[in-house]
Amino acid sequence: MTQKTKILVVDDEPNICQILKRWLDSVGYEVETAPDGYEALKKVHAWGPDLVISDIRMPRMDGVELIRQLKLIRPDIPVIALSGLHNANIVRDAMKEGAYDYLFKPFDFEEAKISIDRALERRRLYIENLDYQKNLEKKVAEQAQKIRSLYLQAVQSLAIALEEKDRYTHGHSQRVSQISEAIGEKMGFDAEGLRVLRLGGLLHDIGKIGIPESILNKPGKLSKREYDIIKTHPAEGERILRPIIEERGILQIVRHHHERMDGSGYPDRLKGDKIPLVARIAAVADAFDALTSERAYRKPMEGGRAIDYMISETGTHFDPQVMKAFTDVVREQRLLDHPKALIQSYEATLPHYGP
Ligand SMILES: [Fe+2]
Repeated sequence: MTQKTKILVVDDEPNICQILKRWLDSVGYEVETAPDGYEALKKVHAWGPDLVISDIRMPRMDGVELIRQLKLIRPDIPVIALSGLHNANIVRDAMKEGAYDYLFKPFDFEEAKISIDRALERRRLYIENLDYQKNLEKKVAEQAQKIRSLYLQAVQSLAIALEEKDRYTHGHSQRVSQISEAIGEKMGFDAEGLRVLRLGGLLHDIGKIGIPESILNKPGKLSKREYDIIKTHPAEGERILRPIIEERGILQIVRHHHERMDGSGYPDRLKGDKIPLVARIAAVADAFDALTSERAYRKPMEGGRAIDYMISETGTHFDPQVMKAFTDVVREQRLLDHPKALIQSYEATLPHYGP
């Protein structure tokens, strides 16, 4: 059974309310009445009419104020203003406030029916349009999300593919991602924070895409010019990712994973806790994996020695808090699946670190 259309009639003259109610009942509407704007608003809340037909001059709250209030709380409900013929000015005020139409008393029922039908049609269109807009916004947001995640997947695959073809960097980003996440867990990061560390780790070196392999994998010492080119990769990576990544943390990892605690890093020479924490974490994970991996220009460092070295650089290069968490992670063998992590030897060689 379809619900009847609900009309609220507001008039301080009970006989007008009665006449209108009887007629509207007879043409198939569900009708309630109210003696003034104040009572009408209460009925709007409790009963939710589809249309209000309201007198203008009423005690307590008049029709103009009722229209004003309705516009704020239920702009979908059209109001037809009622007035005596001698009150044309008041009708103008009501129209100015947003009344949909007006009817003069005494009524011409035929005219009233036309006005009611048009007002209800306008409401239907208003709601339809609102739904359409909401739906459209949702669809646009979904689409944007889809495009972002596709692009992100493509960029990630590209980052991984670039590493894969080079035996020296094979799997580096995935390991930095894993180690960063393990440190974050130790430091009490929530799920969202861990996601940032994971993704940031995967993408941290994406800016190397634009750097010639001859420089990236040069066996000997880099010239100053070549080193300057290498140093562009964090800012370049951030530039590539900025249009598609909303999480600031991920962009911070990409841009700041080569900053150093003493301010001598790059690209922004940030110092101490000016370096975002997620980037300080990625810096430790990145350095550990780089040290323990083979490079074109050197042999891999054994895990325990790498950690000794990193401890000696704590405070100048690495954040002490992050190093504490990192060495705890290593002690607790959380990096067992890390192919380069020689856990047994760490245990033997780890100097006592931190409080
Ligand atoms: Fe890097």
